[in-house]
Amino acid sequence: MSVATDVEQTTTETREQVLPQARRLVLDMPEYHPPLAGRDALRLDFNENTFAPSPRVAAKLKELTGERMTVYPEREPVERIVAKHLGLESNQVILTNGVDEGIHLMACAFLDEDDEVLICTPTFFMYDVSTSMMTSKLMRVQADDSFTFPFDKFLAAITPRTKLIIVASPNNPTGATVSREHLLQLAAAAPHAVLMVDEAYFHFFGDTVMQDICSVPNLIVARTFSKAYGLANLRIGVLAGDARLITYLRKVSSPYNVNGVALSVLPEALADQDYLNWYVLQVHQGRERVITALEELGVRTWPSAANFVLMDIGERHKEFVAEMRERGVLLRDRSSDPGCDGYVRITIGVEDHVTQGITALRESLAAMSWTPAEGMHARRTSADPHEFE
Ligand SMILES: Cc1ncc(COP(=O)(O)O)c(C=O)c1O
Repeated sequence: MSVATDVEQTTTETREQVLPQARRLVLDMPEYHPPLAGRDALRLDFNENTFAPSPRVAAKLKELTGERMTVYPEREPVERIVAKHLGLESNQVILTNGVDEGIHLMACAFLDEDDEVLICTPTFFMYDVSTSMMTSKLMRVQADDSFTFPFDKFLAAITPRTKLIIVASPNNPTGATVSREHLLQLAAAAPHAVLMVDEAYFHFFGDTVMQDICSVPNLIVARTFSKAYGLANLRIGVLAGDARLITYLRKVSSPYNVNGVALSVLPEALADQDYLNWYVLQVHQGRERVITALEELGVRTWPSAANFVLMDIGERHKEFVAEMRERGVLLRDRSSDPGCDGYVRITIGVEDHVTQGITALRESLAAMSWTPAEGMHARRTSADPHEFE
């Protein structure tokens, strides 16, 4: 070996040796890789709006000039509009890069390394991801197979070390809800913790604790504009809560966290209540049609207050999702979620998309010679050490 090569090799080795490691919690935290590749089909897999946002959004997009793209985005004027829309003061809200970033900001602002986080599984996986980078004490309370919120068990899991409680209502992937009464009891039982209620699917449900932020100082409510408003691609959501808590979130947020395109179109989306009502009605009607079709096919489902329905296919869940894909319809296999072995989720969209989805459901199950007995295997799967059972 020549001297030059020798030196090169040593330098490379040294570089590898000294490469800084991420923090321990970052090394240990789970990663979230949603199956985004190859989605060129009917998207009944991510709970998105399956159609389009309000036409007023499309019109506004056409007005945006190249010169506008050169400007750093200003969040505050749109925060005032969003606050007014929600019946709040602007210091009670912060716009975020989707609720995903909202969860991240909550973790950054409130969690020290040994603080406990409490969630009810199965639920949205980003709670695991964002909180695990701050603390290893993520406590999961598993719902039983009815997926109703296990209130007593959850309440009993609150400890003096609990710092953040996150509850999605309606929940993803189950569609189950938590009553306002129960949510307020949780907030009262843990005054030393922040209760974040994730209302990403609020528009398909209608019940909310948004107004309670004015009287409950440890409550934060999250809403997204990705679902009913159809703006998932623009990444915009909002956190609302006591102005003092919102100040902490502003501190840990980048001032330019929400892009200017999203900020420009959001007021248009909010102003078009007719569009929102239309889309929500499409989802309500479609949800009924899907549940009826699944009942006729003998597939077990759970009541859902969201724009999706969870179904119990059983052991052949992968084959079923593949059959659906062959018919041009994407579904989301939720089998790896705790307590969801064999369960598959279908998003509810506009009428035509629901029709295509139901046709594909019928054809896929027939092609598999699937029988209702296959889906009735209620099994608990979670072996998580943090789980309270
Ligand atoms: C419960 C829940 N919260 C938040 C999100 C993410 O919302 P956003 O698109 O605003 O980041 C999702 C997306 O699927 C969700 O299911």
